[in-house]
Amino acid sequence: MRSRRIIGTALATVLGALAGVPAAAPALAAPGNPGEPRYTAGAPSAGDPYFPDQGNGGYDVRHYDIALSYDPATRYMDATTTITAAATQDMDAFDLDFRGPDVTSLTVNGHKASFTRAGQELVVSPRPKLKAGQTFTVVASYAGTPPVITDPDGSIEGWVPTDDGAFVPGEPQGAPAWFPGDDHPTDKATFTFHVTVPDGVTAVGNGRLVSKTTAGGRTTFVWDQAEPMATYLATVTLGTFTVAESVTPGGVPVYTAVDPRLATQSAAAVARIPDILEYFSSIFGPYPFGSAGAIVDRAPDVGYALESQTKPIFSSAPSVGTMAHELAHQWYGDAVSPARWSDIWLNEGFATYATWLWTEHTGGATAQQTFASSSNYGRAATSSFWQVVTADPGPEDMFGNVPYNRGAMTLHALRGKIGDAVFFKLIKDWVAGHRYGNASTAEFVDAAQKASGMDLTAFFDVWLYQKGKPASW
Ligand code: TRP
Ligand code: ZN
Repeated sequence: MRSRRIIGTALATVLGALAGVPAAAPALAAPGNPGEPRYTAGAPSAGDPYFPDQGNGGYDVRHYDIALSYDPATRYMDATTTITAAATQDMDAFDLDFRGPDVTSLTVNGHKASFTRAGQELVVSPRPKLKAGQTFTVVASYAGTPPVITDPDGSIEGWVPTDDGAFVPGEPQGAPAWFPGDDHPTDKATFTFHVTVPDGVTAVGNGRLVSKTTAGGRTTFVWDQAEPMATYLATVTLGTFTVAESVTPGGVPVYTAVDPRLATQSAAAVARIPDILEYFSSIFGPYPFGSAGAIVDRAPDVGYALESQTKPIFSSAPSVGTMAHELAHQWYGDAVSPARWSDIWLNEGFATYATWLWTEHTGGATAQQTFASSSNYGRAATSSFWQVVTADPGPEDMFGNVPYNRGAMTLHALRGKIGDAVFFKLIKDWVAGHRYGNASTAEFVDAAQKASGMDLTAFFDVWLYQKGKPASW
């Protein structure tokens, strides 16, 4: 399911120029009868400059079925991922993003396919070749120890072993550690996970628990994520957990898994999940998924939380504020995902602003007070904080302060500019209009201008596109 192509024509133009032919000319056509398939390789990239290896062209993934067994004692994984996709061009080769262990077999539509690996590209040559519009199935088996991946800012993700299992965060480039796919947020798909672990270990995936069966000392958990999900939001975090199941007042089932060592410290945050979801539903619109929850784990080397779809994952006991932040992402980030990684403030600025609103709602500082504080607009104009561009922080600062705090300040300033009624309608309509898809900063600017009937060019210029502390807007 792809809501947007980033490169499309731009890449076609470059390729055309490289081939020495005008991009628009039908001269690219291979000899033969008009209407005959012209097989080419799918693009190796989604064209996102922050992570140029991410994503691929030539197909749209519809569904991932990931069946894996994992033994925390040996850190050995044995897995088979089945990808159902639709070809978007006549294709004799395509790439999957994969950084996992040895691939032991690979078929396309049941036929053994040859493949090579280079960096994170798993290049597959299907035979018979694929025709545009054709649905096809890739079955890839692999076994070994999945990797920990280091991000441009030095933090880790992918498949991170813990003392009792594994913590599995995927943003922005961890998913290829444990399953092959199209690892860019623009290619959302539904997911099924079958995770087999030794008895006593609990494996927690996105969506609903379909079944739990035990045989021969091992337990298989089947999880189903029925709404489209970006690959970076997939998880199957596993370990020793205390599980609790409940239902929100609005009828959403809640599944929480908590490392028993963190039960006391995380109790307050976990207990507030229903209240937080009810409050956010009242201002952002209905909760976008069929289930909710949280996974509280002990992964001291990770040091951050992640808004994995339906069940955010925490690498230590969260505060209520951090819980609110990750739950807000279910609307802003998960239901509506960034078109490109440079749009990350649409995730982090919204989730941060949501927490300011929650704080005010529960009797703490008002959003205006938080805006004005020394962590936000109160920072001196000379601070280096103001030297990162909100709408293009770069891969090293995408999880730095600016997308979060200047992003939230942007929203609060916008609210002041266009008024409460227009602002809250705008952010609610934003989710309703883009849920299960992607959206860009330019689309948000456009939506704000349409909703308010105002020319907000100068406003967004100082808040999103320019360095420096905004002085007036
Ligand atoms: N998106 C996460 C949050 O704010 C944070 C996060 C995800 C992160 N991946 C990261 C932070 C990598 C640092 C490095 O909820
Ligand atoms: Zn966040």
